[in-house]
Amino acid sequence: MDIRVFDGKKKLASFAADLFSEVIKNNARPVLGLATGASPIDTYKELIKRFNAGELSFKNVTTFNLDEYCGLPKNDKNSYYTFMMENLFDHVDIDLKNVNIPDGNAEDPEAYAKEYEEKIKAAGGIDIQLLGIGVNGHIGFNEPTDRFSEGTHVVKLTDSTIEANSRYFTDSEMPRYAVTMGVGSIMAAKKIVLIATGRAKAQAVFETVKGEVTPSCPASILQTHKDAILLLDKAAASLLK
Ligand code: PGA
Repeated sequence: MDIRVFDGKKKLASFAADLFSEVIKNNARPVLGLATGASPIDTYKELIKRFNAGELSFKNVTTFNLDEYCGLPKNDKNSYYTFMMENLFDHVDIDLKNVNIPDGNAEDPEAYAKEYEEKIKAAGGIDIQLLGIGVNGHIGFNEPTDRFSEGTHVVKLTDSTIEANSRYFTDSEMPRYAVTMGVGSIMAAKKIVLIATGRAKAQAVFETVKGEVTPSCPASILQTHKDAILLLDKAAASLLK
């Protein structure tokens, strides 16, 4: 694993945007794996800035998002669909036909999950995958468990994740289930970029980097990926020395 520690979130986001820009510019049909949450917001801002400056186009880009809550209307203010529209897609020239965000309301979730995996494969696989990390070491919504998940599937969220994310659900109950790309789907990406900032992530980062590879810290599997890079601020990296 390549580990970079940055002095401040802006520098980190600019470096992450460089990695994504490179893939977008060097591929005829780039396929991006995207994430929600606080961690990627500055990177999306930086990509939008580059689009506005005429340096980057999303015209040929296809995207796959990691996850979505189950049971929320697509346009709910807390859905990841809404998050992606507000934080990236509304501001760039991407063709929405090429945007894929898991449907948290599929009638047959299992069949839907298979379809999502097939779509990723049909697009040629993910060239670069963006990840945050949960305080419990989750990636996507792959919570700590006793085996690494494979493809896209429905998960029951853990108390730790509910506690971390319920701050967004000020006037409604946070969903207890989500659909997520599996650890296997994430590991199939050609390049993986994980962003972690803040002291609250330090323990999860430590276990990811220095701990054993174990499904009780799902991000630890990144140790076995041939092109995974961790972008950290000093607080998130504080336990590594
Ligand atoms: P955050 O979430 O970026 O909002 O901290 C990351 C995650 O839970 O994967």
